[in-house]
Amino acid sequence: MCGIVGYLGLNEKKEILLDGLQELEYRGYDSAGIAVIEGKKLHNFKAIGKLENLREKTKTYHSEGFGISIGHTRWATHGKPTELNAHPHLGAYSYVVHNGIIENYQELKHELQADGVTFLSQTDTETIVHLFEKNHKTTPDAFLAFEKTIQRLEGAYATLLITEAAPDTIFFAKQGSPMLIGFSKEDVYFASSDTPIIGKADEVYYLEDGEYGYAKAGEVKLFNAGGEKSFTKQALTSDKISAQKDGYRFFMEKEIYEQSRVMSETMIGRVRDESIYFEELGEDFFDGITSIKICACGTSYHSALCAAYLFERLAKVRCDVEIASEFRYKEPLLLKDTLFVTISQSGETADTLEALKMAKRAGLKSLSICNVDNSSIVRQSDAAILTRAGIEKGVASTKAFATQTMVLWMLAVYLGQTRKTLSSVLAKTEIDAMLHTPKALIVGDELHAKLHRLSKRYLHGHGFFFIGRDIFYPLALEGALKLKEISYLHAEGYPAGEMKHGPIALADSELFTVALMPRTMHYDKIKSNVEELSARDATILAISPEPFALADDFIQTQYATHPMLEFFEMMVVTQLFALEISVRLGNDVDMPRNLAKSVTVE
Ligand code: AGP
Repeated sequence: MCGIVGYLGLNEKKEILLDGLQELEYRGYDSAGIAVIEGKKLHNFKAIGKLENLREKTKTYHSEGFGISIGHTRWATHGKPTELNAHPHLGAYSYVVHNGIIENYQELKHELQADGVTFLSQTDTETIVHLFEKNHKTTPDAFLAFEKTIQRLEGAYATLLITEAAPDTIFFAKQGSPMLIGFSKEDVYFASSDTPIIGKADEVYYLEDGEYGYAKAGEVKLFNAGGEKSFTKQALTSDKISAQKDGYRFFMEKEIYEQSRVMSETMIGRVRDESIYFEELGEDFFDGITSIKICACGTSYHSALCAAYLFERLAKVRCDVEIASEFRYKEPLLLKDTLFVTISQSGETADTLEALKMAKRAGLKSLSICNVDNSSIVRQSDAAILTRAGIEKGVASTKAFATQTMVLWMLAVYLGQTRKTLSSVLAKTEIDAMLHTPKALIVGDELHAKLHRLSKRYLHGHGFFFIGRDIFYPLALEGALKLKEISYLHAEGYPAGEMKHGPIALADSELFTVALMPRTMHYDKIKSNVEELSARDATILAISPEPFALADDFIQTQYATHPMLEFFEMMVVTQLFALEISVRLGNDVDMPRNLAKSVTVE
């Protein structure tokens, strides 16, 4: 998700902008830029990669005196991470930064190109600045020209625009994407969230959708569809870390709640009405590929296991999955018609990276599914599909797992359509379910409160089994890993059908079984597996859309029309279950003992 900062006043602007962008790093980005107008002169700097690169580029520049300025960190949705695609985008005499998606940008771009406008970037954002300058030709009042511009925009945007035509004014508008205005005695600040202005501004106003306006020295005017409106400032918090948590107790909790929103970003530009599209993959990418081998670690291994079911079911392509640390030393059989897929949140996991190098040495084509652009695994792969989950700070992975699974699901449908092994009717069914996924990921207050209450019963016992069938078996593994990681209680994920082959010997009232019982995937089978456990006095927490009388605790899920919707909804339940138990045990949810966010050593 992109980050925006703005500043108007007498202080040195570059440092204010760069420090502000640094505070937004946790949102994830692949390029950054700033623009300043001071003494009627425009200054603009952009850099791809880390913010350090932008600091390096601007180290000899220092602004002086009164001026206006804007900055941006970009998380690529339209167009690759390049300097040309980095914000701020330039017109003839104006600059703009933007967070969100302009849904009608193609129409606007064609209109502007017909007027002779040349576009430098592949982004939707660039249409804003050219449209403003087109309007300014016939509407000399810069604010009225800006107002006409945003009235043409459809979709989500938080945008700041500065122009030589009004070198003392910052124009702003908010629709769908977050933005706030900060106030100190003389100066005015803008930001996507409050951390960039903590310690600088004293008061803040959080813009509402449909609000826009302009800021000058000592004057901010706010408008909405009803005309000019007043607004009330509020005191700004002074605690940066709590601000980055956006009011949640832990980054992990915040990231669980973010899953619904980031999932929409993961799908942008990829899920179309009748088909899936990956701009990262050439049309011939899968030519000559007859099977897929996925290699990963930990949670990423679990999304890989889920993908194997989907690739074979939807794309009719053989798929096997390897734990990277095992794969590296097993002297694997590697065939050139196998696509080697690595999955990694960090893109720096040593075992996965080394496995990738082995596959490359053997001449296999490689694809990575990763959350960090320009990471080692991304750079080493022939192609990479970013999950766009934003930076994941909780060591226990949540939104990265969810978005990995979504990308792999999309890829399975994409491959099924490419290989013509998936009918357009079935593809449409999958796509409709994908489009409902953000809703299935919404965390209901009642659900969270219920899991908080029932978690008190699961703080002891001699262990947990998480059981499921088909794609719910990898989900059971993932639920067990989440619980282990942050509660330090022992938990195992198991195929439900396997319990009678030994593990059921452990069944007694002190053995907790979390049973994933989806209606749309082998319900009767899993039900009888759970009944076997209950008959032996195991304590059952059933998660299902179907009421289950034998459950000691029961979480009723709402989505029961597609296995993947049930998968994602139950995933949220297991994540919150682990979180609430960990909180009751007083553990450090975000930084569990013995663990690192990225295991860059063997
Ligand atoms: C997940 O909750 C864990 N933190 C861990 O298993 C992690 O998934 C694993 O280390 C792989 O990391 P990666 O996805 O960055 O490669």
